[in-house]
This record gives sequence, C-alpha cells and structure tokens, in this order.
Amino acid sequence: MPDHSITRRDLIAATAKVAAVAAVAGPAGAQSAKPAGALVRPVAISSMNGLAAVKVAVDKMAAGVPPVEAAVAGVALPEADPDDITVGYGGLPNEEGVVQLDAAVMDGVTMRAGAVAALERIKHPAQVALAVMRGTNRILLVGDGALRFARAHGFLEENLLTERSRKIWLYWKENASQKDDWLPDPGEVDDPDIQWFIKKYGDAIFRPTGTIHLSACGPAGQLGCCTTTSGLAFKIPGRVGDSPLIGCGLYCEGEVGSSGGTGHGESNIISVGAHTVVELMRQGKAPEAACLAALERVVRNTKLDYLRDEKGRPKNNLLLYALNRAGDVGSAALWAGERSKYAVCRAGSEPQLLECACLFKR
Ligand code: GLY
Repeated sequence: MPDHSITRRDLIAATAKVAAVAAVAGPAGAQSAKPAGALVRPVAISSMNGLAAVKVAVDKMAAGVPPVEAAVAGVALPEADPDDITVGYGGLPNEEGVVQLDAAVMDGVTMRAGAVAALERIKHPAQVALAVMRGTNRILLVGDGALRFARAHGFLEENLLTERSRKIWLYWKENASQKDDWLPDPGEVDDPDIQWFIKKYGDAIFRPTGTIHLSACGPAGQLGCCTTTSGLAFKIPGRVGDSPLIGCGLYCEGEVGSSGGTGHGESNIISVGAHTVVELMRQGKAPEAACLAALERVVRNTKLDYLRDEKGRPKNNLLLYALNRAGDVGSAALWAGERSKYAVCRAGSEPQLLECACLFKR
C-alpha cells in the first residue's frame, strides 16, 4: 500500500524548522563553501528545494529505513507542497493545462529501479515509482498504464492543478503567441498569483524547470536515490524529460556512489548525466569534480545554435548532485546564480544550503 504517512502537518513543521535554519545561515540561506570535517553518515544531498527533504531522509535512515525509501519519504514534502510549482501537487501543467508528473527511484544495494512518466492525478509519483520497482519486474511505466498501475496499488486520484498554477498557465497561454485566438487580459499581470510567479522566476523565460533529486547514503554506505518532477512548464503533452530516465535524471551504484540532475532535461539526456557522474566517481573523482567534468561534457555536446549563447555556452542551466559511498558530497551547475545551490544533511546536524561549483558566471 502507498505510504501516506507524510501529512500536511509534517510538511508545515519541517518547513518551519528548516526556515529557521536557513535564516541563521544568511539571507539566501547559503554557505559559501563546502564544510570541512568528518564524512558523517547517514547523509543526503538534494536540489535546493530539498532542504526539508534531506532532513527527513537522514532521520529515516538513522532509524533504519533503507536509503531508497528514505529518499522517497524526503521528496514527499515538495511533492505535497503547492508552493513548489516544479514538483507534484501544484506543479505547472503541460500546454493543455494538465499536470503530468515524472519520477524514478534507484536502489544501489539491489541495483533495481522503478519509474513512471506522464503520470496524471497522483500526488506522489515517487511512491508509485517505488511500487514499480518492488511490484514488477519492469522499470518504466508511462501515461495511462502508469495511472492504472497506481490505482491497482491503492493510490488515490486527485486534481493536482492548484488555482495559482492554473492562472500562471493561462497567463502563459494568452501571452505565448499573437497568431492564435487567445487574448491576454491587460489586468492579469497584476493578479497576486502572477506577481508571485514573476517575483520568483522572472518574466523573461517564463518556463521554469525545477524538479527535486535526492541521493541518500546510509550508515554503512548503502545508496539509494530518487528524482521527481512536474517537468518543463507548459510542455508538449507526453513530453518526458530526464527525471524518470535511469542514467540521466538519477543513477546509483552500490560500490561507487549516487547522482542526479535538475534543470534542462534534454541536455542531461543527451549526455546521460547521472551515469556519467557515477562513472567519473568510479574512476576516482570526488563528487564535485565528477559533476564538473560531466557538465564539461554537456557543454561539448551542446551543438545546436538555439541552445547556445554568443560565446557557444549552453543558455539553459543544468545542475548535477553527487555523493559517494564514503559519504562525501558535491554539486555543480553550468551557471552560477541564486538557484545554483544544493541542500545537504548529515546525521546529528541540521540541513544546510551550499553553493554549487559553477562553470560559468553571467
Ligand atoms: N529536469 C526536469 C525536466 O526537464 O523535465
């Protein structure tokens, strides 16, 4: 049966606690460098929207929960959070206004994986991915098949499109083209929900990619990971990004380490980002160096002009996260910026936001 043990009350309590920690760390909640010191395990690393999630994952692992399950428990927080419009409930919909979610899990102990793509009406796709891993001898279920599988496993269907996400989608649709029948409402931009979005993401691109990846390392170096997303905002219906693709949006191998990515999914797919990072760690690179080397490959593989700026650099951002079985962590982004941060938590410590290493500065 699905684990619905994370309640709205848990979400609010965890978020409030983390907000207090972030406030101590500074206005942006970020430290400037990787902390030195012992590689205490359990440890979890995630994208910056996982500050509460890494704490949940570490607490679960400390209580004996396997890393892959702990990762799924952690990401249940942003999946349920309507203010995270890149994941789960409240995620921005596709171009037809339908929320379609992608998620995957991987267990480095058993080298099993499960994934769902273009799944509608289920708030916790990562839990469905875990059920695919455990309850089938297959790896990836998509669309209506994934929904029927979720129903069979007792997951409840619900409307995932919040009023705020519907308004943001409509604003995008009405302003996307002057060659169709949709007319922008001049007063729309003053709507508090549209203002909330513009303040957070800007008005220039208007199609954020968010996503949460979480890699977890247990007390004895056991590994597991999970990635879950609503994908590219206003995507073509059925478009699937890197998140549910094993080797791209996530990968872990018990003897080496675990990795995943967030950001421009197509760039990550072409360079098979997460698997590349794990291979580089196998060859001896530390997690941060492995992420940077994988991103250098992404730069080399970005050949199309519309994806590159005037200096030939990828226009879109891509972030990679990694940890090895010793418990060392690292992350890197193509572009420095307010969103190029990652979250880490170790047993006995509060979660922290840290700056990613970056290839480029604007
Ligand atoms: N990285 C998330 C996506 O492109 O769908």
